[in-house]
Amino acid sequence: MEIVPLSDAVGAEIRGVDLRETLTTEMLDQIEAAFHDYAIVVLRDQDITLEQQKTFALHFGELGSRARPGKKPNELDEYGEHVMLVTNVRENGKAIGSLPDGEMTFHADTAYFEFPSKATMLYAMELPSWGGNTLFSNGYAAAEHLPEDMKRRLDGKKAMQVYEYGTTLKTKEKYDRENFPYYAHPIFRKHPATGRSALFVSELMTEEIVGMSKEESDEILAQLFEHQKQSEFVYEHEWKVGDLVMWDNRCTNHARTDFPRDERRMLRRLTIQDTTPVVEGAVPYTQAAAE
Ligand code: SIN
Repeated sequence: MEIVPLSDAVGAEIRGVDLRETLTTEMLDQIEAAFHDYAIVVLRDQDITLEQQKTFALHFGELGSRARPGKKPNELDEYGEHVMLVTNVRENGKAIGSLPDGEMTFHADTAYFEFPSKATMLYAMELPSWGGNTLFSNGYAAAEHLPEDMKRRLDGKKAMQVYEYGTTLKTKEKYDRENFPYYAHPIFRKHPATGRSALFVSELMTEEIVGMSKEESDEILAQLFEHQKQSEFVYEHEWKVGDLVMWDNRCTNHARTDFPRDERRMLRRLTIQDTTPVVEGAVPYTQAAAE
């Protein structure tokens, strides 16, 4: 097995693994270590069934549920509780999956729950001729490189994460908290495996900094959203059919570029449930200055 970094920002490609085969404990340990070191791992040229994808995912924890608060499981599509097809493919005019079209702004999956998804795994099955790239922003680097006074201002603060399902670009100021989930999490989130602190806010899902005036909160969040999308923190994944990408939602945000609506794009998504509460993690004030 070979681990090859994908960019200066975040991510590594893992070569020499065929997910149709049974992986040894040593291989799985290496993959998990790369996942913690690089936050995103890419395995190319895979040709796997849903069952093989599930088998791989289960090495990293329980599968996350797509059941939504207030909805019955039978309101999910035919793929069931754990599988989401991220696709613009339509039958009788209706999208057969989720998040069908176009650009998406940065977010971490299910940040609006008390226990957000630990990881997400996307497997590329059909792709358009251009676009639909997934951008990943390194939350550790974004936290470390904040100005020192900003780190001090945000130390110990929480931000409210909210989401109306299906939204890809935030076009309204506030989501509906009566009907959709929300949860306040620390802005600096400590990763339980690496011990490092990541910036845990995103343009799509973070609405306010708890305990701050609206003006101050809006101003700071706008700065944080611009900060985290800087190219030095971002790896852009150009998909190829057969790519399997697993990312760590505890220390990265992801976004998507636009792509043609009339060309098929289909990726099969599983999430890994987190069982560890989100805990605060202070970013050392001097770290960015020292670098
Ligand atoms: C997602 O945010 O889970 C979807 C990303 C993508 O379609 O590239």
